[in-house]
Amino acid sequence: MRVTTAALAAVAAVCLSPASALDNGVALTPPMGWLSWERFRCNTDCTNDPENCISEQLYMDMADQMVADGYRDVGYEYVNIDDCWPAKQRVNGKQVPDPVRFPRGIKFLADYMHSRGLKLGLYSDAGTETCGGYPGIEGHEKVDLETFASWEIDSLKLDGCYFNNRTDYPAYYGMVSGLLNATERPILFSCSYPAYLQGNTFINYTYAAEICNGWRLYDDIQDNWGSVEGIINFWGQHQEELAPAAGPGHQNDPDMILVGDTALATPAAARTQLAIWSILSAPLLMSNDLRNMTHWQKEILLNTGVIAVNQDPLVKQGTRVALSVGEAWFKPLANGDVAVGLRNPSTSDTVLITAPLHLVGIPKGYATAVDLWNNSAVGTVRAAVTATVGPYDTAMFRLTPQT
Ligand SMILES: *[C@@H]1O[C@H](CO)[C@@H](O)[C@H](O)[C@H]1NC(C)=O
Ligand SMILES: *[C@@H]1O[C@H](CO)[C@@H](O)[C@H](O)[C@H]1NC(C)=O
Ligand SMILES: *[C@@H]1O[C@H](CO)[C@@H](O)[C@H](O)[C@H]1NC(C)=O
Ligand SMILES: *[C@@H]1O[C@H](CO)[C@@H](O)[C@H](O)[C@H]1NC(C)=O
Ligand SMILES: *[C@@H]1O[C@H](CO)[C@@H](O)[C@H](O)[C@H]1NC(C)=O
Repeated sequence: MRVTTAALAAVAAVCLSPASALDNGVALTPPMGWLSWERFRCNTDCTNDPENCISEQLYMDMADQMVADGYRDVGYEYVNIDDCWPAKQRVNGKQVPDPVRFPRGIKFLADYMHSRGLKLGLYSDAGTETCGGYPGIEGHEKVDLETFASWEIDSLKLDGCYFNNRTDYPAYYGMVSGLLNATERPILFSCSYPAYLQGNTFINYTYAAEICNGWRLYDDIQDNWGSVEGIINFWGQHQEELAPAAGPGHQNDPDMILVGDTALATPAAARTQLAIWSILSAPLLMSNDLRNMTHWQKEILLNTGVIAVNQDPLVKQGTRVALSVGEAWFKPLANGDVAVGLRNPSTSDTVLITAPLHLVGIPKGYATAVDLWNNSAVGTVRAAVTATVGPYDTAMFRLTPQT
C-alpha cells in the first residue's frame, strides 16, 4: 500500500507535536525482558518439539521462570513474541494467531502476563508478509493495529521484510506510529527500518526518536562470538551519530542478550555483553532458555549494580575510548557517577588495562570505585582506573568523582 494523503497527515501530526521525542510514556529507560527470536526462531513443530515450538506454552513457561528466578524483580518485564505466531490466513479481514499453537489467543497471553506483573510484546511486519512468510500489516494497517491494541499488548516490534517501497520506510513507520497513538493504548514501538536502510542512505535518528521508542540497526545478532563482537565494534565506530540519538523514551537497539546461548559460553564473554549493552543504554531483551540457565548465567543477568547502569534515568548512551592496551567504555550517570567498562578484545591473552580518568569523563580530581561484578569497594582511584582483564572479559566499575 502506498502512503496515502491521510497517512502523511498522520506523520505531520506526529512531527508537529511540541515534544521532540515520541511521547507515549514508555521506554523512559531501556526495555528489559525476553524475546523468542534468536533462541527459538520459527520452530512451529509442536508435534515433535512441544516444549520448544512457538506456542502460548513457550511464553507462559518463560513468564513463570522470570517470576520464579527473580528476573522480574530486578526489572525484566517484557515477554515478547517474535515471528511465526499468526495463522497464514486472515479471518474476516483480521489477523488471528495460529489456532493450534495459540488456542486461547493473544489476549489470553496478555492477561497472563499482566496478572504476574509482566508485559506482553508482539511482532509484525511493515510489508505484505513477515520475514517468515506470515501476514504483515501492509494494506491492513488500521485494522491490524486496532486488533493488536484490543488484545492489550504492551510492545510492538515492526520488522521490514517484503516492503514494497523502500524509499518510504521512514514515512511509513511514521504513519504506523500515528495509528498506534490513535489506538489510545501506550504501546512501545520498536522500529526495524534503520536496519533495512543501513548502508544505503542517511538515517535521520532525530526523526526516528519522534516516531519510535527504539530501533534496530545493523545485522541481527547470531549465536556466535563474532556476531556479538561485530555489533560492539559497529556501535563504537558509529558512536558520534548514534549516541546523541538515545534518551528517555527512545534508544538504539543492538539486539538481543545471548547469555545462556553458545555465543557466550564463558562467564567472561557473558559479562562483556551485559557490560557493553548496559553502558550503551541498550534494551536488555534476553533470547535464551530460562528453563535451564546455570548459576553463573543467572548471577550475571541478575546483577543489580550493572542493571542500575543500564536503567540509569539520564539514558546517556556511553562511548568507547581507544587505549594503548584494550578499550574503555564509559557512561555518565544521573547522580554524577560514571560507569566504566574496561574491555579486553583479545580472545587469548590476559592484559592490564589502564584508563586515565580524564579520558572517561572525570576531568579533574580522583574517584572512589566499586567493582560491579562482585559489588565490592575498590577504594580510591587516582589518575587512572586499572584492571587485569582476561580474554573476552570486561571489568566494570562505578566511579564516584571526588574533589
Ligand atoms: C499520543 O500522542 C500525544 C501527543 O504526543 C501524547 O500526549 C499521548 O500520550 C499519546 N498517546 C498514546 C497512547 O501514545
Ligand atoms: C516510493 O515512494 C516515493 C516517495 O517516498 C515515491 O516518490 C515513489 O514514486 C514510490 N515508488 C513506487 C514504486 O511506488
Ligand atoms: C531530521 O528529522 C528532523 C525531525 O523530523 C528534522 O527536523 C530534520 O530536518 C531532519 N534532518 C535532515 C537532515 O533531514
Ligand atoms: C531446556 O529445558 C527445556 C524444557 O524442559 C527442554 O525442552 C530443553 O531441551 C532444555 N534445553 C537444554 C539445552 O537442555
Ligand atoms: C572483586 O573482583 C576483583 C576483580 O576480579 C578482585 O580483584 C577483588 O578481590 C574482588 N573482591 C572481592 C571482595 O571478592
